Amino acid sequence: MNQPRRVENLHTDKGRVPVYATGIVEQPWDDYSADDHATWATLYARQREVLVGRACREFLDAQDAMGMTPGAIPKFSELNTVLEAATGWTLMGVEGLLPELDFFDHLANRRFPVTWWIRRPDQVDYIEEPDLFHDLFGHVPLLMNPLFADYMAAYGRGGVKAHAIGPDALAQLTRLYWYTVEFGLIRQDGALRIYGSGIVSSKTESIHALDSAAPNRIGFDLQRIMRTRYRIDTFQKTYFVIDSFAQLIDATAPDFTPIYARVDALGTVPAGAVLDDDHVDQRGSGEGWASDGDV
Ligand code: PHE
Ligand code: FE
Repeated sequence: MNQPRRVENLHTDKGRVPVYATGIVEQPWDDYSADDHATWATLYARQREVLVGRACREFLDAQDAMGMTPGAIPKFSELNTVLEAATGWTLMGVEGLLPELDFFDHLANRRFPVTWWIRRPDQVDYIEEPDLFHDLFGHVPLLMNPLFADYMAAYGRGGVKAHAIGPDALAQLTRLYWYTVEFGLIRQDGALRIYGSGIVSSKTESIHALDSAAPNRIGFDLQRIMRTRYRIDTFQKTYFVIDSFAQLIDATAPDFTPIYARVDALGTVPAGAVLDDDHVDQRGSGEGWASDGDV
């Protein structure tokens, strides 16, 4: 097999252009440099330190159960032995972002795409696109949990369906992914904990999401989330809180087709809004919020 490519966003004079790649690649583990392993080690140690007492227990326990350590970039094949036995999911290497329908199809079949390459040392604190650290450290551990594993597969099937319905349905479904899989909070033993991958793979957002007075923290509500726009370039203005992974499964079990139509009629909500019906855990102070830029 040829050496896999490192597919990154293009930066043009019109801004960032995402580039997609569909190929599935063998993880070129022997080719990782000492710098690559050091980047993993730095990020792993730093995040574990911040996440003990912040991430949900299922996340931390699963990293240990899978044998992830700061020592070296994990081998997908070794993680797969443990993961497949636990929930039937397998990891596969990819070169970068996948087109939506390809992504949904993999999830529906319990295949999780993991970017084979890791960010450069100068990108340790921030990178726009998902890399190996975000995908592997952030997303993979919860696939060990039977409920979350089922949720992700159901999401994939829902994605294939939404793609056929049209762009508005897809936008609503993407907001659900954003506010659960990427930026979700969960209540455990009376305290808030992180389960979203976008949070756990960022040191500053891990602290911000739980400790800052700036963001809203609002109880999970499916239709509310499907209406809510979001930020891709800064901390979230609003986090949604679930009580359990079972709540995610139950709330998303109904056929979304009529829900998409209802939500369309209601219209979207700005990222930082608080509505009358919200179950508010914290009303954000709004400190540091940019006034535009929601997607
Ligand atoms: N129930 C959704 C549908 O009918 C599918 C789905 C499941 C979406 C779980 C997201 C999460 O489209
Ligand atoms: Fe992600």
